[in-house]
This record gives sequence, C-alpha cells and structure tokens, in this order.
Amino acid sequence: MSLISRWQAPSNIALVKYWGKYGIQLPCNPSVSLTLQAARTETQVEAIPIVGSGGEPVQFYLDGQRKEGFEPKIWALLQLLGDDCGFWKAHSLRISSSNTFPHSAGIASSASGMAALALCLLDLELQFRGQERPPNFYQIASRWARLGSGSACRSLYGGFVSWGASKGLNSSLEEGAPLPFEVHSIFNGMRDAILMVDQAEKKVSSTVGHGLMTDHWYAERRFLQAESNTQRLLNILIEGDSQGFIELAEAEALSLHAMMMTSASNYLLMRPNTIAVIEEIRTFRKQTSLPVCFTLDAGPNVHVLYPNSIQDKVQIFLEEVSAKFCQGKRLDDAMGNGPVERISNV
Ligand code: DP6
Repeated sequence: MSLISRWQAPSNIALVKYWGKYGIQLPCNPSVSLTLQAARTETQVEAIPIVGSGGEPVQFYLDGQRKEGFEPKIWALLQLLGDDCGFWKAHSLRISSSNTFPHSAGIASSASGMAALALCLLDLELQFRGQERPPNFYQIASRWARLGSGSACRSLYGGFVSWGASKGLNSSLEEGAPLPFEVHSIFNGMRDAILMVDQAEKKVSSTVGHGLMTDHWYAERRFLQAESNTQRLLNILIEGDSQGFIELAEAEALSLHAMMMTSASNYLLMRPNTIAVIEEIRTFRKQTSLPVCFTLDAGPNVHVLYPNSIQDKVQIFLEEVSAKFCQGKRLDDAMGNGPVERISNV
C-alpha cells in the first residue's frame, strides 16, 4: 500500500545571518530569523512500494513539471538521514511541490522546500514504522531539514527562531528552536515587504558562498560579530528597542554582502536598484521618523521590515518604490506561525 504525506512550510528571513558552515551542515555562528506567512512551499510525498526491480527511486515535480535538477539534493538528504529514515529503501518517492509565491520571484525556496520535505519524510517514516508522532516531532523535522538546507531548520516554527548555540537560546548546532521568551509587543506581527529588484536566478549559490567563508580573511571576526549580534538582538527583542533593531538588521545585511565582496573569488549580488531602494528606505525613515528598515538575503531583493502598527503609513511608500525600481513586483509578507499539515489529494 502507498503511504502519503502533505505539508506546507514557510520561508524565513534571517536577521542575524548564517554564513559559513562546517562538518555535516553545522553553522559557524548562531542565527536568528523571522518566519514568514505568505511565502510558503506545499509538498506532497507519495511513497509507492517497489515491486520487482522497481522504477526511479525519486521523482520530483514542481508545479506539475518534473524537475530532475532538484533530485540530487533530495537524494543527498536521504543518504544523510541514514538509519533514522529507511522507509524510502522499499519505496519509490513521488514528490510534488508548489510555492505560494511566483516561481521566478527570486525568493529563496530552499528553506520552505526542505522544511516541508523533512516534515513529509518524518511523517512517512513514522507511518511506515506504525509509530505515533513523538512530542519532539518538529525538533526532529528541524534536524532533518537542516541536512537539506541549513536555513530550512528555522522554518519549522513560527515567530522568531534561532539556530546554533549561544547563551539564552534553545536551539543547537543541529536544530532550530523558537526564541524561549515573549518578544516585546512592538515586534509582534512584524511585516516584511519583499521588493523584487531582480528575479533572475542567483549567479552564485548560497552553498558556494558558505564554502568561500572557509578561507576568508575576515571569517573569524565575522563569526564573532554574528555571535555578539545574536546576544544584542535578544535584548532588543525583549526590550522593544526599535532603533537597535534597525541598526542591527541593516548592519547584518551589509556584513553578509561584504563577506561576498571580500571572499577569494569575490562576487556581487546587489544590483544598482538594490542600492537605490536602500537609499530610499533610509531617506523615508529620516523624513518620517518611522521605524522602517531593510535586510537582504543572499540576493538582490530588498526585504523591508516594519511593525504592523504603521502598515497604513508605509503602504504608499512601498507602492512608489516598487513601481520605480521593481516594475511593481513585491510580496507583502508578515510574521507567520510555522508549518501546517494538509490533506493529501490522492
Ligand atoms: C544568506 O540555507 O540557503 O539566507 O545550507 O547551503 O542550503 P545551505 O545554505 P542556505 O543559506 C542561507 C544563507 C542566508 C542567511 C540565512 O538564512 O541565515
């Protein structure tokens, strides 16, 4: 009999950035992210028992189209899971995924994609063994998701989530965890408008970027900076220090890109319009005194962060800037609650 599982998992945006890894997907520094609401991946995995010599072990479909290019990454994850996840050895996997955001939006789908896949795989392994979901179901899924893509381990929970070991965090090198305290009310329901400066595929993958940190001149200082910023951010979130949040988020974004620009084979992911949008945000903040700031992923698009309470005041600004620099393309997102299980459609 076939086994089936279907989950939806969100993307996340890091405030303190994970950049540099070692061993089996272990981060060189702690990171803290905000889980998103609208940018999600929905994945269904159907495990069909292999009879005779069987068919292809893994088939991956994105929006109904077979994408063989993604299959080696999934295959690598299955190997890394080892004995913890064995059901697939007796099954062929038909994996169907779709993103709630446009395919070419330039939004990283590896975090949401790997988180959704890890949930499906864990769910199927438990079904296969005839076991109930354990209380640490999401913790295990976070560990599995990390093996697929580091940042994915933070997509298993809603709100503010950490990954890595540092004072006051519940996360470890191997898995993410929600921040173990209530954040100040000004950060509840925080919004993130993603201004899509350029939707082309990344020129240099994050995996290659992490690799360049190994022999980076500034790596040691960068890891210390991220550790210190993690501790600072925890205080900022507890105290409701909006000015501190702005300074930290922007400094982290620019440090991430500075690492790319100063690595042995240096590269630039910011585009001229990335800089133009950053300037607009800083001018708007100066003119209005509203707590609006930016952060960046490993790409040219700008994430505009602001509290829910000023949404009305920021809306026109976002419309004008996205019309001028992004051909009107943006995704209005906000803090989300984490993954949800879906009813399978087979
Ligand atoms: C800049 O998690 O995509 O978004 O572990 O190689 O899959 P791999 O990399 P990935 O790196 C994300 C880097 C980042 C910062 C962050 O999300 O913390």
